[in-house]
Amino acid sequence: MTTASDYSEKIPNNVELREDRRLQRALESWQPNFLNWWESMGPTLPTQDVYLRTAINVGREGWAHFGHVAMKDYRWGIFLAERDPGRQIGFGAHKGEPAWQKVPGEYRADLQRLIVIQGDTEPASVEQQRNLGATAPSLYDLRNLFQVNVEEGRHLWAMVYLLHAYFGREGREEAEELLHRNSGSLESPRILGAFNEETPDWLSFYMFTYFTDRDGKYQLGTLKESAFDPLSRTCEFMLKEEAHHMMVGTTGVDRVVERTAQVMVENDTDDVAALGAIPLPVIQKYLNFHYSVSLDLFGGETSTNVANYFTAGLKGRWLEGRRQDDHQLASDSIMVDALDDAGDGQPSIGQLEVSALVGLNTDLRREYIADCQGGVNRWNKILAGAGLPHRVKLPHIAFNRRVGAFAGIEASPDGELLSADEWAARQGEWLPTDVDKTYVRSLMRPVHERGKIAAWIAPPRNGINGKPFDYDYVHLA
Ligand SMILES: [Fe+2]
Ligand SMILES: [Fe+2]
Repeated sequence: MTTASDYSEKIPNNVELREDRRLQRALESWQPNFLNWWESMGPTLPTQDVYLRTAINVGREGWAHFGHVAMKDYRWGIFLAERDPGRQIGFGAHKGEPAWQKVPGEYRADLQRLIVIQGDTEPASVEQQRNLGATAPSLYDLRNLFQVNVEEGRHLWAMVYLLHAYFGREGREEAEELLHRNSGSLESPRILGAFNEETPDWLSFYMFTYFTDRDGKYQLGTLKESAFDPLSRTCEFMLKEEAHHMMVGTTGVDRVVERTAQVMVENDTDDVAALGAIPLPVIQKYLNFHYSVSLDLFGGETSTNVANYFTAGLKGRWLEGRRQDDHQLASDSIMVDALDDAGDGQPSIGQLEVSALVGLNTDLRREYIADCQGGVNRWNKILAGAGLPHRVKLPHIAFNRRVGAFAGIEASPDGELLSADEWAARQGEWLPTDVDKTYVRSLMRPVHERGKIAAWIAPPRNGINGKPFDYDYVHLA
């Protein structure tokens, strides 16, 4: 079913908002609050306009419209993927039944919770990244940062639309709360840990968009399977935008590694700090940090809540349709990571067999880990291509974990268990120290001239939307 996009309205949308005056009014009264939030918590660097992609519809004819726009006039809209009128529920106890167009009363609280948790991450990352514009390594990168920011703003709109349209007064209250919680706030922090961490420099930004935005991709992938059709359609479209965020992270780290490798080879040294590049061990430490905090976002190895969400049809598996099983999993099992106690009081890292339903977080985290390995392979190819023997790697799953089976222990990146004292003494070898962070920050000087790039990063291979690297992507105020 194709719904025409209404782009002339105050709130661009393809959900026929004008047909539902009450909903339209409610969202129009949320809109100024959103804009206030954007003004006070969004990007701090003053700009005239930015070469941005705006979603104007979802169809094949091209939903992405590119042009220079003033960010405060960005047209945040509500766009759901096209509806498939014959869509059936693909898993769980309701498998084979028609997808829900309304929220079933018995699942209302759970669905609302899932939407609020997803919704909370979207504005959080905008808050985390708000000061980065001041130190952008190029106008190209600056434009990509702002693109990610406006789209996370649009993802907030997507979740707020669902809350307003389907969850009544409670939904409207939750929509307000999404603007009141703030990343890193002591009184009302964002819900998930990784979204309260700082993103103080561009290496962190690329690692965040690689590892933490990728968690978002996997969460959206499970919600795209939802029996609740409006949620499924929203997430399907968000995933298209999310692909750009992945690209920013992947190629951002590529370019840092490429530049470091180049400086290492040219000067025949590993010690590139004196030469204005980021040493490989520092890149590895940033990777270790962002990967491990992102693993925590998948929750505990086992979860009865998530088992219930699956059976109810609220949240599926990654690529549910491609799984070769009964999609109900009542009699299947899975091995999950666990801490063994061999009876001697000495824990060791092992595995434990649990029912497949209870182990769904582990299933999703494994899909994510396999995907993360793809980036590591790319970066190692760049190092190999430069003729260097050095390699980066993903740390062990038990390293630096604060959620799940390994929350109570410490392990090295190789998976060796450590006492608290050993960890305290050695963690600076594996996680960014104040010295590392200060060094990386010292490199963060803005390069805001067309076609120029900072010395610690290589230029991109391609520009945006066919434009060259030296295009005027951003006009500063
Ligand atoms: Fe997002
Ligand atoms: Fe994202």
